[in-house]
Amino acid sequence: MVNENLVNEMTLEEKVSLCHACSRFSVASVPRVGIEELVMSDGPNGVREEQAEDEWRGLGRKEDECTYLPNMTTMASTWNPELCKKQGAVLGSEARFRGKDIILSPGINIIRNPLGGRNFEYMSEDPYLISQMVTPLIQGIQSQDVAACVKHYALNNEETNRGEVNVEVSKRALFEIYLKGFEAAVKDAGVYSVMGAYNCYNHQHCCHNAYLVNEILKDRWGFDGVFMSDWAGTKDTMEGACNGLDIEMGSERGDHRNDHMADAFLALLKQHPEMEALLDDKVRRSLRLHARIRKGDPNRNSGAYNTPEHQQATYDVASEGIVLLKNENVLPITGSPARILVAGPNADRKQSDGGGSSAIRAFYEVTPLEGIQNRFANSQIIYLADADRETLLAEAAKADCVFYIGGLHHIEGLDSENADKKDMKLPYGQDEEIAALLQVNPNTVIALISGSPVEMPWLNEAKALLWTGYLGTEGGNALADVLGGAVNPSGKLTYTLPRCMEDVPAVRYGGYSYENNRYLDDIFVGYRGYDRDNVEPLFCFGHGLSYSEMQYSDLVCAVSDGGVDITLKVKNLSKIPAKETVQIYVGYPEQISDRPPRELKAFHKVTLAAGEEKQVKLFVKKADLALFCESADSFVFSEGMYRIDAAASSRNIRLSQEIAVY
Ligand code: BGC
Repeated sequence: MVNENLVNEMTLEEKVSLCHACSRFSVASVPRVGIEELVMSDGPNGVREEQAEDEWRGLGRKEDECTYLPNMTTMASTWNPELCKKQGAVLGSEARFRGKDIILSPGINIIRNPLGGRNFEYMSEDPYLISQMVTPLIQGIQSQDVAACVKHYALNNEETNRGEVNVEVSKRALFEIYLKGFEAAVKDAGVYSVMGAYNCYNHQHCCHNAYLVNEILKDRWGFDGVFMSDWAGTKDTMEGACNGLDIEMGSERGDHRNDHMADAFLALLKQHPEMEALLDDKVRRSLRLHARIRKGDPNRNSGAYNTPEHQQATYDVASEGIVLLKNENVLPITGSPARILVAGPNADRKQSDGGGSSAIRAFYEVTPLEGIQNRFANSQIIYLADADRETLLAEAAKADCVFYIGGLHHIEGLDSENADKKDMKLPYGQDEEIAALLQVNPNTVIALISGSPVEMPWLNEAKALLWTGYLGTEGGNALADVLGGAVNPSGKLTYTLPRCMEDVPAVRYGGYSYENNRYLDDIFVGYRGYDRDNVEPLFCFGHGLSYSEMQYSDLVCAVSDGGVDITLKVKNLSKIPAKETVQIYVGYPEQISDRPPRELKAFHKVTLAAGEEKQVKLFVKKADLALFCESADSFVFSEGMYRIDAAASSRNIRLSQEIAVY
């Protein structure tokens, strides 16, 4: 096994060869000193299929078919860190089986703008929630002797013009909102590698941004792993050399000798021998990563592939990640209705093979239609793939039950890399179709599969509405089990669903652009902005119903060492088992101006049998109450009266207590 001191035995050329790719997804071996090739793959939804060397094209190999994992918004909607760990372990294990060393996952940028093409690859608008979910996910991946690569550092909140757009943001918002998840990935999860973003921050590309990489990531947070560029995100040799870039990936200049960190870097080093210390640091980091993933160790984990356990894990995540937004005594559909009509463009669509770099080849993928056929095996299921509106409505009038499965999907311009959406509307005339169906059959159940918010002009007429991300291999079964009541839904929104774009803080505060994007919403991203200005969303952050009523009582808060201990009781008032995520929001002392009314600082998902009551214990760390102070250039805690809200969502506060924290 290699160790970092091997750097002392390597030639300049050998060392430089470790600073750039040698193929689309690997870095060269140095057999003379026993260093093996370092092999990577995308990405969050499973292990990507092998790509051709000359163009972005999958090789179409059967053996690349893997377990299709729920996307990041679905995983985060579970609010269940244990499930993140499980999902991470599946990803790591399958990556090992395919011989990978680094899996280019997870993506954790803030969901700031509903149009963001990659929102579906990210988790949430809230930095605390991201921190709590990314940590077990990375630990799960890395438990399998594979490096996670958290991306895209930083401020990739839009896709259109992503290679050039410059972001201007206050330091307060940078540290409190945009970097928190990355900080947790480094400090709490111990992530082995980080990928830079394509965009610029303060007019310098994030893949070699002196402030973001050297000052914050490496100096402030003490990151000692590998910082790599996004594919073809490196623009300058000198900046790459000096500003913390350890590996340049994804050249678009033909031969990798032409990469910025290849021959040009070698020439620079020959001219400036004093720069060799910078090179040695880059190489040490790579060798450290080799050692961490036990590369070359005969006892290294060899992984597993498409096992029943892996498939079950996707079911577990999907079934807890589905969010019930609205239900006026329609769901669940128990028993076997005689005629079920299934409609909508996502009913029989497979979702695994799109989205850009996160596309995978699935070993199998249960569509919603197949899931409904499995679940309601004794019903007559009618699905008319290309029916005209008239026929569809006639069928809906005759049906005992209508399931409309709509939403977005992965093509450029919807939920996909490289471009943002043009607007927040459902495509393909879905709004008209849903409105017409609701007229004919007011009990039509609507399930939207989407990675980012959409408008819902028909919402007042709808009685039952589910919201999901892309659900993975077992997704259709999980969805059907929620519809049929075998699963009591327990997902909660990880981002606000606004009524329209004009309500979105990123738009309302101005500065929004695809060239020089000024984040004038500052820290008031997502619910922080809607709450501050009393803008009513369609559905708020943290919202999600179940088929059960929950009663909250007996909130007790006490200051203890390092934070606030919180206990309360939660009772399941229904006759079926249920899960509830108790959310703790904090309101700041009066003397602190310019804060949102509340911020999420703790949560806990509890499982309750029918009629069961449990005491739930939570803890708010004092460190998490500290706010970024620009003049001190650090987080500063202020003593005072804080308000603790125990809540079922950011706008459903069940219990509150004031407490002096000092
Ligand atoms: C994406 C990355 C991805 C890389 C390699 C880039 O276009 O932004 O997320 O890991 O390609 O496929």
